[in-house]
Amino acid sequence: MGPARHASVSLDGANDRATMTALVELNAVTRSYSEGGRERAVLQSLDLAIDRGSKVALLGRSGSGKSTLLSLLAGIDPPTTGSVRIAGTDLAALDETARTEFRRRHVGMVFQAFHLVPVLSVLENVMLPIELDRRPSAEDRDRAVELLRRTGLADRIDALPERLSGGEQQRVALARALVHDPELLVADEPTGNLDAHTAEQVLDLLDELCGDGRRTLVLATHSASCAARCERVIRIVDGHVQEAGRPSP
Ligand SMILES: Nc1ncnc2c1ncn2[C@@H]1O[C@H](COP(=O)(O)OP(=O)(O)OP(=O)(O)O)[C@@H](O)[C@H]1O
Ligand SMILES: [Mg+2]
Repeated sequence: MGPARHASVSLDGANDRATMTALVELNAVTRSYSEGGRERAVLQSLDLAIDRGSKVALLGRSGSGKSTLLSLLAGIDPPTTGSVRIAGTDLAALDETARTEFRRRHVGMVFQAFHLVPVLSVLENVMLPIELDRRPSAEDRDRAVELLRRTGLADRIDALPERLSGGEQQRVALARALVHDPELLVADEPTGNLDAHTAEQVLDLLDELCGDGRRTLVLATHSASCAARCERVIRIVDGHVQEAGRPSP
């Protein structure tokens, strides 16, 4: 299925059009890894368009390529062949430095294994994307503290990650991914390490922080209740994406 069929174009004028068209477009994307001197294709000729402001769940068996696809969507990893466009920018046209810079401005990523920096405090972890981009202002710091307040961690800003529970670390990772107000948030199994109750809290938080339609959310999950909160569900099967339709509530 070509991307044009997903990109819903409004007839009501430029503003609507700008908010409705695809934020992310993958065209003929392939990703393979070489293993023991042989190429193994994980993703094969994918065409995928993700509308601005939408919430998309990505399902698939372990090893099917969810994390691989999220890295491509987030511009962390280049495709082996094909093109990835985010907000109209073809990432392949950027060199690595420019691609990193672009990603820092436009994309927030919550990694499957959190990737918090152990020697930095909670607040320093959340400030990291800003620190890497520019000298943080007082407003940047206020925003980081406010995000930590909304994630229920206001009283832990000076703690080191190792002192936090899994759910708390997950929430720090979420705050860090959002501190620079990215239009695209990519979350790799954001509830994967959490008990059911904490998972619901993190999903509520994701809804609260992404639910205004201004941000586009793509998350990988094994959880049906997590997928049910998204308006679109896609599944990776044998290296291809399938639309899994709208989940039942
Ligand atoms: N850097 C790499 N080098 C070689 N193979 C890799 C690399 N990264 C991923 N793979 C392979 O690609 C396939 C897809 O991996 P990926 O991590 O995307 O799966 P996943 O769907 O996210 O799985 P899970 O649900 O377990 O997180 C796996 O077979 C994995 O071994
Ligand atoms: Mg994964």
